[in-house]
Amino acid sequence: MELTNERILITGGSGFLGRQVCSLLREKGCKNLFTPRSADYDLVDRAAVQRLFAAFSPTVVIHLAARVGGIGANRDNPGLFFHDNLVMGVNLIEQSRQSGLKKFVQVGTVCAYPKQAPVPFREETLWDGFPEETNAPYGVAKKALLVMLQAYRAQYGFNGIYLLPVNLYGPGDNFDLQSSHVIPAMIRKFLEATGKVTLWGDGSPTREFLYVRDCAAGIVAATENYDRASPVNLGSGQEIRIADLAALVARLCGSKAPVEFDARKPNGQPRRLLDTSRAQELFGWHASTGLEEGLRKTIAWYQSQRAAQGQR
Ligand SMILES: NC(=O)c1ccc[n+]([C@@H]2O[C@H](COP(=O)([O-])OP(=O)(O)OC[C@H]3O[C@@H](n4cnc5c(N)ncnc54)[C@H](OP(=O)(O)O)[C@@H]3O)[C@@H](O)[C@H]2O)c1
Repeated sequence: MELTNERILITGGSGFLGRQVCSLLREKGCKNLFTPRSADYDLVDRAAVQRLFAAFSPTVVIHLAARVGGIGANRDNPGLFFHDNLVMGVNLIEQSRQSGLKKFVQVGTVCAYPKQAPVPFREETLWDGFPEETNAPYGVAKKALLVMLQAYRAQYGFNGIYLLPVNLYGPGDNFDLQSSHVIPAMIRKFLEATGKVTLWGDGSPTREFLYVRDCAAGIVAATENYDRASPVNLGSGQEIRIADLAALVARLCGSKAPVEFDARKPNGQPRRLLDTSRAQELFGWHASTGLEEGLRKTIAWYQSQRAAQGQR
């Protein structure tokens, strides 16, 4: 699909991932991008979604808007995360079907995988068990949208695709300790440490991290070149233990602060690593930024933000 002349609605286009997707689309020459804010169009409200389509008449939707956060935010808001993520998707997909949209791109999440999925997670195992409990409401709500898209494809010939990114990180991430994911939380704790640094869980789980710009490139590549019903993983292929990640982030931050793991706090899913061969095979995408390189860029970005704030 040639995107330059399409009218592309990017929900969540002002968010962490959305800004990178928009920047890549602009670099490709796409001029008709629309990135509504929640204050103007609350996508949980069906009438607001109708108003949005009437105002912009999109031909392509990349749906990134979501209620997201780390384990703490998921534990504090299970009802809200389930409701808003499900309803936003349902409203947008139904409105897109009614308006005869050419393509709908739904961004799901690794949190949809079963807690004990065989590693690396292959798309075929998505329904083989219940997700890890702390992020299940978020993961299941998003997974239901995969079923909706497959049902709409079967009944209406609706062209909706579904992507499953692993945990993201990079410049522009959320560094608020109340709602942040693990990498920005670690960076902030190590840079600001005056004594020991306390981290959640026992350090034993493993995670995979995808640089946000690489994820945006995967989403754009899939929007251009992928048109099938099967979900597709987007990951980096690099698995790391949380304890090893902490040591790496501390070194890159130049911190010698001792690390303490608070095992009373939840670990989350025991292991996370995606099999990304389907993305390579079906639309020629693979991640290109190594973890250490991506972390250096992220730390440099956060330090520049702090310096700029200090000067104000
Ligand atoms: N971050 C990750 O590690 C990760 C991993 C896997 C998948 N994902 C997925 O990637 C997507 C983007 O995540 P992100 O990290 O970029 O999140 P983010 O920075 O929090 O951005 C989310 C955006 O959603 C919008 N939004 C939330 N509620 C809305 C509502 N009711 N109506 C309209 N817009 C609403 C917000 O818009 P306003 O700013 O205007 O309020 C915000 O810009 C999500 O679908 C997420 O599930 C993220």
